[in-house]
Order: sequence, then C-alpha cells, then structure tokens
Amino acid sequence: MNVRISSEQNTREYAFSAHDFECVKKMIYARAGIALAENRQEMVYTRLSRRLRATGSTSFREYLKRLEEDDENLEWEFFINVLTTNLTAFFREAHHFPILAEHVKKYQSGRSVKLWCSAASTGEEAYSLAMTMMEAFDSLKPPVRILATDIATNVLATAREGIYPLEKLESMPTERIRRFFLKGKNSAAGYARVRPELRNLITFRQLNLLDSNWPMYGPFDAIFCRNVMIYFDKPTQYQVLQKFIPLLDRHGLIFMGHSEVFHHASDLVKLVGKTVYEPVTQ
Ligand SMILES: C[S@@+](CC[C@H](N)C(=O)[O-])C[C@H]1O[C@@H](n2cnc3c(N)ncnc32)[C@H](O)[C@@H]1O
Repeated sequence: MNVRISSEQNTREYAFSAHDFECVKKMIYARAGIALAENRQEMVYTRLSRRLRATGSTSFREYLKRLEEDDENLEWEFFINVLTTNLTAFFREAHHFPILAEHVKKYQSGRSVKLWCSAASTGEEAYSLAMTMMEAFDSLKPPVRILATDIATNVLATAREGIYPLEKLESMPTERIRRFFLKGKNSAAGYARVRPELRNLITFRQLNLLDSNWPMYGPFDAIFCRNVMIYFDKPTQYQVLQKFIPLLDRHGLIFMGHSEVFHHASDLVKLVGKTVYEPVTQ
C-alpha cells in the first residue's frame, strides 16, 4: 500500500510505503518511546533518505533490515539522531527560572544543589540553569552540579562545545550575554562561546529516558524534563515519572513543558505552579 501523497512518490528518490512508515514508527517507539504522529511521514522520509544515501541502501526495506541487524548500535545512533526533534532556546518558558532560583535559595548556607536537565538537546536549557544558579548565588562558582542528558549524541556534541550563533543569544539581556559569553573574533565572528565557569558546572551524558537502568544517583533538587514527554504516550510518560520520584529530593521539583499535563499520574505528582510538579508524598 502506498502513502497518500502519490504525486510526490513519483518524484521521490526512494519508494516509501505506508508499511515502511509503520516499521519506522515501531522501531523509534521501541527504542526511544517516541510515538510518531501520522503527519510525520514527510519528515521521516526526508530525514531518513539521507541515511539511505549515506549507507548505500537502495530501499527503505534494505535500510530498515540493516538497522534491525545493527548489533553494534552504530546506525541506531544515526537513526535516533535524525528522528528526534531538538528545538530549544535559552531561557525557553522563562517563568520556570525564577521559580528554580527561589527554590534553591533554601540551600544557600548548606549543602550543594543538584539539578538534572533530562532532555538537554543542544545545551541551551542546561546553560540557562547554570546562569540562573550563578545569578541566584551571585557567584561564578555556585555550589551547584548540573547533569544534562539526552538520547541524541549529535545534539550533545553541540551542547558540550557550548558555541552558539549570536542570533541564539538575542532573547537574553545584554548584561547576561556580557557576563556569561565570550564573543568570537575573526573566523569565529558571529558566534559566542559560553564562559568556562558556566561549562564547568555541567556534566553532559547520553541517556535514554526509556533505559531500565539510569546510572546516576540523586537526590536532585530539581529535574527539568521539558518538551520531551510530548513525544511519549501516556504509559511511557507514567513510567518515566515513576523513575524520577526516587531520584528527587523530598522537596524536589519537576519542571515540564508548556503542553505537558499529567492528570493520569496524579498518584505520583501534583501541580504546584505553572507546569511545575512535586512528588506526591505517601
Ligand atoms: C524538543 S527537545 C526539548 C529540549 C529542551 N528540553 C527544551 O524544552 O527546550 C526534545 C529532546 O528530547 C530528546 N529525547 C527524545 N526522546 C528521548 C529519550 N527517550 N530519552 C532522552 N531524551 C530524549 C531529543 O533528542 C530532544 O533533544
């Protein structure tokens, strides 16, 4: 059975049947929990045909078979990298950052603060957390550790590098840019690098939220899990939330994306602010 857009099918480099799309959907769901919507066919075709070309596959069937047999997970890494949506920005959904700053003030004269940015993408969110902490503690060396993870390795490489086109900084006040970024010169003109102090607060690691074992210890004072649950179905969202709870401090907070609601997990978390949750205490 062919996909609906038959006129485009004729001009396409590779045939892409509804069955091929179904296989892709099953495979990315099983690996990453991502439930691809029906209207993602074009996106999937465009992104994966690059992988067909790169691997010398002559059809989607051949490519997907290659993937199934990829025991070393080399092609899986590309498959996940191209099929994830990595849109992010500095201080996205800005109302969360003052809430976090207020939340950690309780720890200013005691233990250090631990934060987890669990779908970090290209790093803007983790660096926004780091800037918020430096501002909250009024120090370039606040007592804070930030773990930043993502399933996709290509975005993590950008995050680790911490170099961004200047347009990406435009939403921030000049004072913040001056304090936390170094503008590039000559061949690096048009880019800015995060200051080393900011970078030093963060550990970037690859982590699939679907993995049965998460190799980290809590307790975290806050977990940011924004704009990723939207790609998961409700049972997967519930499982992920269930695994967050034991890693959270008793007073820890979970920050979610603007369109993510968890009525189906009211036994696990309760809403305490705009898309901010707290664990339900037993
Ligand atoms: C739209 S971005 C959100 C980035 C950031 N949290 C924000 O709100 O701006 C979603 C990120 O979730 C990551 N992701 C998708 N599935 C994942 C999974 N199973 N485990 C960990 N990260 C995942 C993607 O790679 C992508 O970088």
